[in-house]
Formats: sequence, structure tokens, C-alpha cells
Amino acid sequence: MNFHILTLFPEMVRDGLNTSIIGRAVSAGLLSIEAVNIRDYAFNKHQSVDDYPYGGGAGMLMQAEPVYLAHQAVAEKTGGRPRTVYLSPQGHVFDQKMAEELAQEEDLILLCGHYEGIDERVLEEIVTDYVSIGDYVLTGGELPAMVMVDAISRLVPGVLHNDVSAEFESFQDNLLEYPQYSRPEEWHGKKVPPVLLSGHHANIEKWRREQSIIRTYERRPDLLERCELTEKEQKWLRQWIEEHED
Ligand code: ADE
Repeated sequence: MNFHILTLFPEMVRDGLNTSIIGRAVSAGLLSIEAVNIRDYAFNKHQSVDDYPYGGGAGMLMQAEPVYLAHQAVAEKTGGRPRTVYLSPQGHVFDQKMAEELAQEEDLILLCGHYEGIDERVLEEIVTDYVSIGDYVLTGGELPAMVMVDAISRLVPGVLHNDVSAEFESFQDNLLEYPQYSRPEEWHGKKVPPVLLSGHHANIEKWRREQSIIRTYERRPDLLERCELTEKEQKWLRQWIEEHED
């Protein structure tokens, strides 16, 4: 999969994504991450890319033309019109489902705004998806773009090496992941739950599923409404709640 990030701060994006799992996947040729400097497409000799907003107001806006030219350069290289995401607090909130959907694309363009935003006219022409990473305002789209690249990349086959880890984790079926333990068997007086040492795989699976349900109930009850529990599990949870609530 190929990511093309249009930004005024290409080094921020490159530095942030060249380590660990993502960096290794790039070296292995499973992913490519290209940071395109919008300033390279400035059309004046000072290479400025911002100007005052018509009608007044605070701050500066990124002008349409450099953004348009940077986008065209990528579109010409890839052939066709890749999906183009504008990172903005006004977008749909990013989640695992959206990451799964975008991981199917061969090319993805991520457009990062700065200052007070980008001239609306170019957004109308090039943007296919408006995406927010949460209800708070950041100084630019670079960190959100990096968040998206990370979440999407780990779903690209081969990036995690081990397909099981992408499968059994938080948000699978809208449930949070169960707690995990490693050596030693006892730490600060706390013992590893005995079932995990039993070697009984069916019991371990059952315990993990129950822990996922409890954890989701306690920490993200909003998710529980969207997950499909069997009749038996629903009954079990009601009973668990009765036993544990004061
Ligand atoms: N740019 C500024 N804040 C943002 C957010 N929360 N999500 C995506 N892009 C942004």
C-alpha cells in the first residue's frame, strides 16, 4: 500500500514513521510512505503558501493552488484519482472500521492542513473523505495523518508478521482485549490467574472472552451496545453485574 502525505512539514511525518513496525514494513517493501512538501509547489518566488482570509478573521489560510499542484503531481504519478483524505476536526471520526476499509486501497493521499485551514475551493475539487481523529483541535493534520498511517498499515497483510495479533485484539467484535500476563507467575503479591497456567485451551478461551466482556462493560459500555453477545453470554453478564455491583 502507498501513502502520499501532502504537508508543509514533511520531515515531521518522515521522522515519525520510519521506526519500529512501520519502518520495517517500508524497508521490506510492504508499504511506501511519501511525504510531499506542498511548499515545493508554491508559485511565487518567496515560496509562501498562505494568505489572509477574505472577509477578515484570525490567522492565515493555505492557498488553493500549491495544494492543488501537489495533489496533481501525486495523482499523475499514481494514475487515476486516489482517495484523498483531508484531516480535519470537521470530519467523520476515525475508527477501526474505517481503518479496515481504507486498508483495501492501493494508494491513499492524506492532506494535512495548517494555520487556520485550506481555501475551501481546492478541498471541493480534490477531497473525497473528511476525517477527524477525535473531538479536539490540533495545530495541524500531521499527527492525525500519522495516526491513520499507523492504524491502517498494521492491517496490511505481512506488516505484523503474525495475522493472529491483528485478529484477537481490541475492537474485534467491538469488544476490548482481555488482560494479559507474562513471567513471573507472582509479582508484587499479584498472581497470574490460575486458568492461564492450566494448559486447558477451551477454558482459557472462555475466560478470555468473559474478561473481554467485563472489560468492555466497565470501560467502554458504549461499545457493548454494538457487539453481538450470545443469549448465554448476555445472561452470564447480567448475573456478573448483579454479583459485582453494590
Ligand atoms: N486537525 C486539527 N485537529 C484535528 C483532528 N482532531 N483530527 C484531524 N485533523 C485535525
